This record gives sequence, structure tokens and C-alpha cells, in this order.
Amino acid sequence: MKVDGKHYRSLWWNAEAQVLEIIDQRSLPYEFVVEQVRTRDDFANAIREMRVRGAPLIGATAAYGVARAMADDPSDESLGAAWRLLNATRPTAVNLRWALDRARETLRLVAARDRATAALSLAHEIADEDVEINRRIGVHGLDLIKNIASQKPAGEPVRLLTHCNAGWIATVDWGTATSPIYHAHDAGIPLHVWVDETRPRNQGALTAWELGSHGVSHEYITDNAGGHLMQHGLVDLVITGTDRTTRSGDVCNKIGTYLKALAARDNNIPFYVALPSPTIDWTVTDGVAEIPIENRDPREVTHVQGVDTNDALGVVQVTPSGTPAGNPAFDVTPSRLITGLITERGVCDASEAALASLFPELAVAAE
Ligand code: MRU
Repeated sequence: MKVDGKHYRSLWWNAEAQVLEIIDQRSLPYEFVVEQVRTRDDFANAIREMRVRGAPLIGATAAYGVARAMADDPSDESLGAAWRLLNATRPTAVNLRWALDRARETLRLVAARDRATAALSLAHEIADEDVEINRRIGVHGLDLIKNIASQKPAGEPVRLLTHCNAGWIATVDWGTATSPIYHAHDAGIPLHVWVDETRPRNQGALTAWELGSHGVSHEYITDNAGGHLMQHGLVDLVITGTDRTTRSGDVCNKIGTYLKALAARDNNIPFYVALPSPTIDWTVTDGVAEIPIENRDPREVTHVQGVDTNDALGVVQVTPSGTPAGNPAFDVTPSRLITGLITERGVCDASEAALASLFPELAVAAE
């Protein structure tokens, strides 16, 4: 998508310097900082420290991390060590393991002398595939938004609510939950997006920055406001992303998603999840019982980052010193609360049968 009129992906390969370039998301939305990721450990740190974040983007970054490792040392030991190092960076989003497994399985069949080239081509392939998957999610989601728009008086905006940032910077391009929004906006459908702040890291500010850059009408709201807006008829549709969706359609996403799904159900508001197929974990059935939830540094809860009146970026403490804090970063929304999953192959029910019928080859491969 565009930043100040220039098209960017959220990562790109600098062939001359043989490095990956990323947008450091810790500085957004205040500063646009491009950073070069050079060593295998830099790749792991970029994911762990959330310089890159969002399930699809960390998968693509990890694939480039394997390419870096193979350029340094293409042995089986190095491949295994890169898999372990990168896989340990963040536990919840399954795209990380998906990309690493795909790289390991592909490269095991390649002679060591050819592995660096093969690993880099595979990383490019994964990045390009992500863009196309998300574009298609946008096309299918556009139909849903068009349908809602057609039931409203002409010119009245469709009011969507989204949580966290499932935007283009959480993917390689387009975003997942935002792709239908960008497609609908570009098709001339009037929209208004309620953007959950998404404490503790305020990924909603990233969404606000994206939507503002694209000219989409939006408002930034506290995480607690969504239920109230729904009760007052101000939300037509909720679309969120996902970090891991089970074969039965349970959705693990940024903490707070579950509460939005409960409020949407209580108010008869459709609750959709934009789901790229690499985010399906075919090995897991019960999301609440089986998905590991990342527990992050309590400091993310007791402190917030922002700019002061002089535009200086800083961090302030919001609690009394020494306050104990908990920071579970994701939660699971059971499939029964989900109206539908917007995938690259179309919209389906959040159920094992529906997912398996859209992706039969993936469902069978996991058995
Ligand atoms: O902790 P984050 O910022 O990596 O979490 C991101 C999310 O929860 C997104 O909603 C999810 O990855 C979908 S991104 C297209």
C-alpha cells in the first residue's frame, strides 16, 4: 500500500546489499523508519522485539531468516538451528512455524551447495503468495460489504469495527482484515471504521495510520467502547484478523477479540475473521485448550509509548511503581461466535467441514 504516495510492501529484499529491509513497527505511527536485517540473530530479534509483527509478516520474515542462515552455512545442522532459533521467537502465530516447516521440507531435498539460492527464492515465493492471498481475501470480503451497503439508504456508510492491526503492515501487503476495507473503499462504497486501540501495545494506532494514509474514514476508540457502539446500532460488521485458527474454526487473535465476538453475538452483528490459509493449524482442534498463548513483558501494560507535545517519542508509566501486571497477548474466540471466515478461496462457516471442503488438500495432508 502507499505511504506518502509511494508504494511499499512491509518488507523487501535489497539484492545489492543482500539484506532484508523492513519498516520498524516500533516507531510507527510516529516515525517511518526503514531498517536493514543482516544476520540470522537480527532476524530472530526483529520478530521477538516486534519490529516486524502480525502473523503473515513474521512468517515471511522467518523465511528470509532461513535464507540468511543458508547463505552463511548451508549444512543440515545450520538449517535445524535456524528453524529452532526462529521458531522460538513468538509462540502463538502459526504462520511462523508454517513458513519454517515449508522452508525446512523444501531445503532438505536440495543439495547444500544450492541451498542459499533455493532458500532465497522460497522466501520471495512466500512473500508474493501472501500478497496474492490477501488480495483475494479482499475481493471476497468486498462482496460481504457490498451486500451490507445494498441494504442501507444510499450514501450511508457501512460501519465496520476492527481489532488490533490486521493491516498491510501486519502482512506483506494489503492486510487481511483491512483488505476488504481497502477494496470496498476503492470501489467507492462509503465506509466508517471503528478502530480499537488494542492495549497494551496500541496496534490500533497502526491501523489508524494505515486507514488515514489511504483516506478511509475512521475513529480510534478505547477497547471498552465497542459493546456500547454495538448496542446503539453503530456497528454493521466486525472483521478481525487471526494468528492461528484451528481445523474446527476456533480463532486465536490479539487479546480482546473474544470480548468483541461476545458483544457482537449479543447484538446480532456479523462477526467475520479474515483468514489466510497459512494461518490454519490443521493439527489443533480445540483452540482454548491447545493453542499456546504468548505472555509478554508486564512493562507493556504498566507503560505506554507515545509522543509528547514537542513530538518527542517517549514512554511513560501509567501505574504506581512496582504494580504487578499480567500480559496475555492473545485469546481464543470459539467457532460458535464466528459468522464466517473470509479466506482466499471464499467465505465459509467456522467449522471443520467447511474449512476442509475449501482446502481439501491441506486438511488431508495434516491427517
Ligand atoms: O502481537 P501482534 O501485533 O503480532 O498481533 C497481531 C494480531 O493479532 C493480528 O490481528 C493478526 O496477526 C492478524 S495479522 C494479519
